[in-house]
This record gives sequence, C-alpha cells and structure tokens, in this order.
Amino acid sequence: MHDENDALSPQTGDAIAPFRPFLDRLGAAGFARRIPALAELTGQRLDPSTHGDLRRWRAALEAMPSPPPELVTLDAAAVGVAGAIDPQDQSRLRQALMALHPWRKGPYRLHGVTIDSEWRSDWKWDRLAPHLSPVAGRRVLDVGCGNGYHAWRALGAGADLVLGIDPTLLSVMQFLAVARLLGESRAAVLPLALEDLPPGMTGFDTLFSMGVLYHRRAPLDHLRDIHRLLRPGGELVLETLVVEGQAGQVLVPAGRYARMRNVWSIPTPGTLETWVAECGFRGARVVDVTATTRLEQRSTEWMRFESLAEALDPVDPGRTLEGLPAPRRALVIASV
Ligand SMILES: C[S@@+](CC[C@H](N)C(=O)[O-])C[C@H]1O[C@@H](n2cnc3c(N)ncnc32)[C@H](O)[C@@H]1O
Repeated sequence: MHDENDALSPQTGDAIAPFRPFLDRLGAAGFARRIPALAELTGQRLDPSTHGDLRRWRAALEAMPSPPPELVTLDAAAVGVAGAIDPQDQSRLRQALMALHPWRKGPYRLHGVTIDSEWRSDWKWDRLAPHLSPVAGRRVLDVGCGNGYHAWRALGAGADLVLGIDPTLLSVMQFLAVARLLGESRAAVLPLALEDLPPGMTGFDTLFSMGVLYHRRAPLDHLRDIHRLLRPGGELVLETLVVEGQAGQVLVPAGRYARMRNVWSIPTPGTLETWVAECGFRGARVVDVTATTRLEQRSTEWMRFESLAEALDPVDPGRTLEGLPAPRRALVIASV
C-alpha cells in the first residue's frame, strides 16, 4: 500500500512506523503529494546516529507500559488518559516518562501519573481559545509545537487533524509517548523545522506559530513563510514576546534576554500588528497581552533545571537579569 516505504532503509521504516496512521490521514486530507518527502525526512531525523540520546529515549519508550485507553481527555487543562493499570505498571510508566525529562510543555495526566511541566501551557490555550475561529473540521498546522500539547487541545476543540512540527527530538519522543498512551493518530509532531516543509505545501485552515518568532533572526521572513502555508481565508494564531511602547518600536537585545542566547527581536504590540499586515495577512489584531509570571513558567519535578525565577532581577522582578523589561507575550489573530 505504501510504495514509498520500499525505498526506505529498515531503520528509517521503523522510525516512521508510529507516524504512518497520521501520514495516511494527512495524505487523505489533501496533502498526498507531500507525504513521501515528509516520511523520508522524519526517518532521517530520527536515525539514532543523529542524536546521542535517541537510543536511550527509544529504550524508555519501548519499556513504557501502555494499557488500553478507556477515557481520553483532550478538552481539559491536563491532557490525559485513564484506564485500568496496576501499581507496578504505573510506577514503570512514571519511570519511562521521567526518562524523557525535561518536560517543558503540559500538563498531562497519564494513567494516574501527573506531568507537571515547566510551563502551564493550558494558560496560553485559555487566553487563545476565546479568540480562535471554530476549528471544527479544520486541518491545523502548529509550527514549533514543542511536545504537541496545543495540538491535543486543538483536537479537543474539534479540529480534524493537527500536524505539529518541531526540530527538537526530545519533544518528538515525548509526543510519541503521549500519543501511544492516548491511542490517537489524528495529531503528530514530526521532527522538522519550518524550513524543512516540502516546497508547495499549502492549504492549512489554521496555523499556530507560538513562541517561535523571537527565535528567528529574520522575523518577517518567518511571517511570509507561514503565510504561504495557509489557504485563502485561513487563520493565523501568532504568539510572541513583546515590549511596551509605540508602534514602530522594537527591542533588539544586545546580548542575552532572560538568559536566552537566541532572542533576536521583541516588537511592541503595534509593531507586531504592522509586521503581520506587511507580510500579507488581513485584519491583524492583538487580542491579548500577558506578563509571564513565575507561576506560569517554573521549575518542577518534571523540569528540574532553572526557570523564569532565575532569569529575573532578584530586586526588581519587572526586569530581566540583563536589565531589560521582563517577559510579556502577545497573541495576534489574522487571516489570509
Ligand atoms: C518556546 S517553544 C514554544 C512551544 C509551543 N509552541 C508553545 O507555545 O508552548 C519554541 C519551539 O520552537 C521550536 N523551533 C525553533 N526553531 C524552529 C523552526 N525553525 N521551525 C520550527 N520550530 C522551531 C523549538 O524547538 C521550540 O520547541
């Protein structure tokens, strides 16, 4: 049935096997011509030679008990699954999930194991949901989706399918763990960057780009690239860091920002709306601006490294350690 598999090495074929049901759906949803390229790249990126930890992560996945899912929850703060599990299996499940530390996005509740991730990603969803056009029946693309938390929430809101892409392989492994436990194939996180998507891939109904723009050296190029991926009338959901100020202003951190090396530009909300409009989107509007608190982003048992608290000035938490305005994030909605 899958002729393109014939050309793949056995290792590549194994790596993409868990994604097959999703790729079949994506193919049936109008993207059939792009599937061979997506499968090929996914296989290459997940080859054990590409990352020193991949074998260990795979072993954790293979050791993970996966009881039949009885109740799957995609429309609540903690994305999750419940079913019959004995205490021994629950402890093995916890161990396998902990081997995929650090969990930055969540929360999840998987057969009684609560993953309290670094970010309360549900708070971002709650800010976004009232402004999102109904996603029922839509094909959603989530660019820079992390481990796929918002992809699950989009499915919970009625989306038909959600393609997530993220080049961070640990995020992909975390997605695979959750997807296996949920028994779901309507969403996937492929190990790809935006630049990896096959040329000509277009036609998504809704596109999320959340937490990515400030990591891009050329933010307007990013906006143009994502514009091409949406169908006419499709909706953009953009979320990024902003600073207070007038339209036209932008902060370009000289060195690090909140200890991050890869933050290139932080516009004001007005500048952001202008950028979005200049890149061809219609009706760009900032629907929310929220300062990030140490309750929304923090160290937990599931993310034991330092977090936002250590990136802020201990005397003036309104400033970062570098003396710049503390993180606040804007959500923009626009259409093509
Ligand atoms: C701050 S996280 C945001 C995750 C999620 N979208 C959210 O809002 O919670 C940014 C993500 O973008 C991913 N990323 C970085 N460069 C990317 C690129 N060129 N294409 C796609 N994703 C990228 C990173 O791996 C990271 O997981």
